[in-house]
Amino acid sequence: MKINKAVIPVAGLGTRFLPATKTVPKELLPIVDIPSIQYVVQEAVDSGIKEVIFVTGRGKDSIEDHFDVAPELDLVLEERGQTEMANTLKRIAEMIEIVSVRQKRPLGLGHAVFCARDLVGNEPFAVLLADDLIEAEVPCVRQLLEIFEEKNESVIALMKVPENEIHRYGVIKGNGISSRLYDVQDLVEKPAAKEAPSRLAIIGRYVLRPEIFSLLEKTSPGTGGEIQLTDGLLHLLEKRKLYGYEFVGERYDIGDKYGFVRATVAYALKRPDLREPVIAYLRSALNNE
Ligand code: G1P
Repeated sequence: MKINKAVIPVAGLGTRFLPATKTVPKELLPIVDIPSIQYVVQEAVDSGIKEVIFVTGRGKDSIEDHFDVAPELDLVLEERGQTEMANTLKRIAEMIEIVSVRQKRPLGLGHAVFCARDLVGNEPFAVLLADDLIEAEVPCVRQLLEIFEEKNESVIALMKVPENEIHRYGVIKGNGISSRLYDVQDLVEKPAAKEAPSRLAIIGRYVLRPEIFSLLEKTSPGTGGEIQLTDGLLHLLEKRKLYGYEFVGERYDIGDKYGFVRATVAYALKRPDLREPVIAYLRSALNNE
């Protein structure tokens, strides 16, 4: 079955990036000159997704505006002869169909996904968490979709993380099937290092069967008092198989300040217009340390 829809939760308050996020949604903070959410939407588009569902909240309307047309701006850019930028803005507005639904209370990631149930309907769908930027030759969601297409079961992205970071993630216990593929046996959200069943962390890309919605509805608040997607997946395991895939690619955790700086430097180094001056600056800054 072809997967057309992707859910992207964007209702979070972004308190870790205050005061920047007092009035600007964290998803619009730029990595160089592109709002981070645009990279995430681009990954969905490049994976073959046809419709994005934002689960949004108060003060987040400008995220949708970013993917809409801006006639006043087009006019000014045309008048000034800046046609290239006018075309770039047009391409962003035409990237993908976008719909949204509000998460009225901050009850957790599982609840955010649940809020999209009517817009998704009874079909499998992808979930992309906007705090994870993933650079990959084959987009990460596409890698998961390939497994879904073969197995017809839910698939989640995994990455091995160091022991001292494991408490920040959902963690799985799984039986290895092939070099990167796991048959998930158990999941736990943000375990203490000594209780973690492995070092295989869930990264923010999922392809899920629609059964997850009725299970999320029954999921009680867990870690942090929130309804966790990880706990919903644990219920799914009672009924169906769940696969985990150690994706191929580089992931940046931009929900974290160091991760955000790392992504900014890495993306700047990939830009032909910035690469050389940034390298020169980093070299001189390090020499002056
Ligand atoms: C969420 C999930 C967690 C996952 C992580 C990946 O946590 O709940 O299972 O490992 O994303 O980035 P958050 O980082 O939103 O607290």
